[in-house]
Amino acid sequence: MTKTKSTKAKTDPSLNQVLLNPAGRVGADYKAWMDYVGGQGLEKALEDPKAIIPMAKEADLRGLGGSGFPTWFKWNAIANQDPERDKYLICNGNEDEPGTFKDRVLLKECPHQLIEGATITAVACGINKIVFYINPHLTACIDAMRKAVEQWQTSDWPARIAEKTGLRIEYRIQPSSGHYIGGEETAAIESVEGKFPFPRGKPPYPSDFGVHGYPTLINNMETLSNVSHLVRNGVEWFRNLGLGNATGTKIYCLSGDVLKPGVFELPMGTPLNDLVYNYGGGMLVGKKLKAVFTGGPSNTILTPKDIDVPMDFESVAARRSALGTGAMIVVSQGTGIVKKVAEYISFFAASSCGQCPSCKTGTYYMSLLLNRIGTGQGTRSDLDSLINLCKILPGSGRCHLVNGAVKVLDSSLYHFMNEYEQSLLKVEG
Ligand SMILES: Cc1cc2nc3c(=O)[nH]c(=O)nc-3n(C[C@H](O)[C@H](O)[C@H](O)COP(=O)(O)O)c2cc1C
Ligand code: SF4
Repeated sequence: MTKTKSTKAKTDPSLNQVLLNPAGRVGADYKAWMDYVGGQGLEKALEDPKAIIPMAKEADLRGLGGSGFPTWFKWNAIANQDPERDKYLICNGNEDEPGTFKDRVLLKECPHQLIEGATITAVACGINKIVFYINPHLTACIDAMRKAVEQWQTSDWPARIAEKTGLRIEYRIQPSSGHYIGGEETAAIESVEGKFPFPRGKPPYPSDFGVHGYPTLINNMETLSNVSHLVRNGVEWFRNLGLGNATGTKIYCLSGDVLKPGVFELPMGTPLNDLVYNYGGGMLVGKKLKAVFTGGPSNTILTPKDIDVPMDFESVAARRSALGTGAMIVVSQGTGIVKKVAEYISFFAASSCGQCPSCKTGTYYMSLLLNRIGTGQGTRSDLDSLINLCKILPGSGRCHLVNGAVKVLDSSLYHFMNEYEQSLLKVEG
């Protein structure tokens, strides 16, 4: 598709706010959502359910839970399953990674936007069971979703959908176990089945064998919140929201040593320096930028030379990093990288579900070595062991937890080896 749009970030965020547009942040108020734009997307979707997946493809709507995987591909896999079987949609709101705090805003302030997006997705894929899977610590979000689902169920939509498509959609709210690992897609399936969230081996993939063996689609809350707007406004509109080759908007979570941390919905592809220095108000007074942990700490680190990177999946990947969930954790000069990475790795070690020996012992050992080096007690051989773990651990676990832990460690070794070296125990002689 030819692009004629601007590559420069617009300076007024309200121009680009779709999911977090102030006018749409109406909480669990069905009437207010309907008075705003509610129902327009679903109305269109019911006119032509088969057009929805091609729309998601043309719009390049990505999974916004971290991977950036094309939504249409997963949706197609579900839509192609036997129409006579039950099918599940898990709306993933586990959100437990440090630095990521966007889905809770969508859940609490825009629950109907999410319900409508999930419902359109269900109509597109022939799904009859929708589960809103939410971190149990987010009690206000669960309350808002409970109220909103009740309002939705007593509206005329369920009957209209059944009449048009034959689908009788059931909605359910399920608090997750509250573990970080419970956000991994197959762990979420186990959790929805009432079990401990142990990730499953793949294949079989959720689209073939998910909740109780039924085809299951798992999407992030932000991904699904986009759907009603895409369907109501069309592909061109959606594509034009992004900058450069990117499409849509992204909710970036800015935290760390900046003056105005928070959630910012901006065009996908907004440069990182615009987020930090314009929307985030710049560095704390007297502080200088040292590094940004991108996409949450299960990713890599960017240094000031990459501060101009456009924050979309491809551009960030081109700088040997990843957009992930869109979390940007800013650290300033004076922050010890070894200690910071030690903090994150100890989070991963505590979060490992323990099924894979390499992950359980590997993250524990990484944490131990980092703490040793970070407190000035580490030896050259400890550092060599860390480097070696970065070589042998990737791909050794059932899920990506261990890969994420290695990524941030490996990236810190790449950019800040001097700090590791300087922290080693000085041995005379
Ligand atoms: C350890 C771990 C934790 C995860 N936690 C979440 C989470 O809390 N929310 C989420 O949407 N995706 C999470 N994911 C990614 C999911 O496995 C899955 O890719 C995502 O829910 C798919 O949605 P999307 O395609 O809309 O991004 C996690 C992945 C891993 C490996
Ligand atoms: S890689 Fe780690 S968190 Fe994932 S299944 Fe294995 S032990 Fe559990």
